[in-house]
Amino acid sequence: GTTLKAAAERSGRYFGFAMGADRLNDSGFQTIARREFDMLTAVNEMKPDATEPSQGRFDFSRGDALYNWAVQNGMRVRGHTLAWHAQQPSFWRNLSGSALRSAMISHINGVLAHYKGKIFQWDVVNEAFEENGSRRSSNLQATGNDWIEAAFRAARTADPAAQLCYNDYNIENWTYGKTQGVYRMIQDFKSRGVPIDCVGLQTHFTGGSSLPGNFQQTLSSFAALGVDVVLTEVDVTNASSSQYQGLTQACMNVPRCLGITTWGVRDSDSWRSNESPLLFDSGSNKKAAYTSVLNALNAA
Ligand code: G3I
Repeated sequence: GTTLKAAAERSGRYFGFAMGADRLNDSGFQTIARREFDMLTAVNEMKPDATEPSQGRFDFSRGDALYNWAVQNGMRVRGHTLAWHAQQPSFWRNLSGSALRSAMISHINGVLAHYKGKIFQWDVVNEAFEENGSRRSSNLQATGNDWIEAAFRAARTADPAAQLCYNDYNIENWTYGKTQGVYRMIQDFKSRGVPIDCVGLQTHFTGGSSLPGNFQQTLSSFAALGVDVVLTEVDVTNASSSQYQGLTQACMNVPRCLGITTWGVRDSDSWRSNESPLLFDSGSNKKAAYTSVLNALNAA
């Protein structure tokens, strides 16, 4: 393949990107996106504060604009995200206990009713663990330790066709406490029949030339529990070619690694733009890491 998506599709995988609604007016961005990518994630537009700004009033205008743009361009869409400690609507902040739990479930039902049958995967719950592997303290966690499985059960019922993912950062190093904490939760969910299909590893890498310890072992260990894995928000300090090559190779080596998404297209699109972490520079040129990724995809 001569593009990222063509190379990924050779092995039945996808190559995705994150797009904000502000890029709907950016023809330079869109030219690259149409050529290279086949899976879109909305940067902010499908998060709870965007889709339900006040209780029971849903707003899918910006999410739909991105969804429609993707479909018109032959792409699939990952949904990001339904329940998270950040970017909550302000009314969630004024609720607690069973009222907040109900609001979360109602939110999931409302969003999934709207997008039913349209979304490939949802990041149902995002970033719910501390670095040491314990549950992150949050208003959602305070509603009871079962809030995560409640979210997954509601999502499965509301859209049985969508694959349901748990998504987090710093779960790439197999020996890290947070990785192990998430692993134990997935293991527990699978053993008790809680509906979960995939783990999203955000893959925000910072510095160095080698990968976080045993990255491929992390992917294969999650997969061995019976879930797919996806790299959901990839960016790498200074776009290290060896790290990009390594993370792509690791995914290609694990049959249940379904695809890779970079968190933006050009460095200027990135939340880490001062670290130049993406595959295209701010002038839309392919960087060295682009070739490393393409070659690793084509080698499979
Ligand atoms: O839209 C307002 C704009 O009107 C205002 O002028 C401007 C001033 O700061 O803020 C704009 O909103 C910002 C929004 O992005 C849109 O650009 C928010 O302040 C800013 O907080 C928000 O940041 C987003 C961040 O999530 C919030 O947590 C980033 O764009 C987005 O890339 C980032 O994505 C997260 C993933 O969802 C989860 N994993 C980590 C990843 C990176 O932080």
